[in-house]
Amino acid sequence: MVEQLRVGVIGAGRWAASAHLPGFVRTPYAKVVAICDLNEDLAKARAQQFDIPDVYTDVEKLLAREDIDVIDVCTRGSSDDRDNHERLAFAALEAGKHCLCEKPVAHDYRNTWKAHHLAVSKGLKTKVGLTFRYAPAMMYMRDLIREGFIGTPFIFNGFEQNSQFLSSETPVTKMDLIPEQPNPEIKVSSLEGYGAPIIDLSMWFMDSTVKSVVGILKNFVPYRTTIDGRKVRTNIDDGDIYIGEYENGAICSVQSSYVTVGNYPGLEARAYGSNGALICRLVEEFGVPQTLHKATPDAVEFVPVEIPDKYFPPGYVEGEPWPSLFYANLVHNFMEEIVNGGDENQGNFAQSARVQEIINAVEISHRERRWVDLPLDKSIAG
Ligand SMILES: NC(=O)c1ccc[n+]([C@@H]2O[C@H](COP(=O)([O-])OP(=O)(O)OC[C@H]3O[C@@H](n4cnc5c(N)ncnc54)[C@H](O)[C@@H]3O)[C@@H](O)[C@H]2O)c1
Repeated sequence: MVEQLRVGVIGAGRWAASAHLPGFVRTPYAKVVAICDLNEDLAKARAQQFDIPDVYTDVEKLLAREDIDVIDVCTRGSSDDRDNHERLAFAALEAGKHCLCEKPVAHDYRNTWKAHHLAVSKGLKTKVGLTFRYAPAMMYMRDLIREGFIGTPFIFNGFEQNSQFLSSETPVTKMDLIPEQPNPEIKVSSLEGYGAPIIDLSMWFMDSTVKSVVGILKNFVPYRTTIDGRKVRTNIDDGDIYIGEYENGAICSVQSSYVTVGNYPGLEARAYGSNGALICRLVEEFGVPQTLHKATPDAVEFVPVEIPDKYFPPGYVEGEPWPSLFYANLVHNFMEEIVNGGDENQGNFAQSARVQEIINAVEISHRERRWVDLPLDKSIAG
């Protein structure tokens, strides 16, 4: 009998149903014992669907339960409660629970570092919804790089993009994408919402942190239709590009957008080095959700790489949708890290803080039209 961690989930919406809860059901190391949502009917429906015994609408009551080991924050911050991940993650850690949190933990990277330090001070582990580092093809790419396949890392190119919001007529349900008032200053949107996982991968693959960035945010679709049919000015970053330089001398270009034609999820990671190159695509095309290709100086034509079985999560069935496939790995990995003890804790709040600092730095670069060096504040310990 394996040790089973007792989990409380906050947020019973779409992503909880398609990614988080199916992940917890599959790992032998967890049992979801409670679910909480402001919408009681939704919480009850999910409880029934996933066989969860207890339902709450009040987070405080959930956090007060001493028998819960792990809190999963899977809410969506609305425009009047923009920082709700941050608030709930701090509350979970204060209550002594390990914490899985959807991205971003906080919009300001400094607060993500604070949450990380709080977790460390209490001996708690954290994990962030950096979904795509748990895609089997990306995990294998990381291991190949670690084993030396590309040699010294030179260049990383990353994309996270699809055409989810290309049409201005498509009612946008993510309310924070539509500022109610005309906004003269572009609001960071795609760079944070879409960019975070590819920024995470860029550092993971190049095995270094970023020391300087220059970037641009762009609004391509200026007006959008709300769910109640109004046209509103939507001055958000729906496309962005930055270039960066790493501490180890490598360089990168990273692009994110939700108005560029292509399918979900829409990631491409290219790593080039002195001995070889690897290209991983997570773009669902003709039923195939992930591909990995390799080339070497002696064989420069890229060829497909088969992904070994060990990179697939428990209960994998061929053709399963990417959200549950990738998230099952994420959840299983987090539960293993907690059960095994020790220092292993990949994709944690510290990594999220590094990602968020790059997002914050690219925003500064765009607004001030200049290169921005990192760390942004040398007094903040990494
Ligand atoms: N990592 C990824 O790849 C990925 C993909 C999709 C969504 N997400 C993230 O997952 C999160 C949830 O997205 P979604 O599509 O499920 O949103 P959703 O709107 O469908 O569901 C969010 C739920 O959170 C609940 N909620 C909000 N504040 C709450 C609070 N204080 N207490 C209790 N419940 C609260 C809402 O009532 C709602 O039911 C978002 O942060 C989103 O950005 C991540």
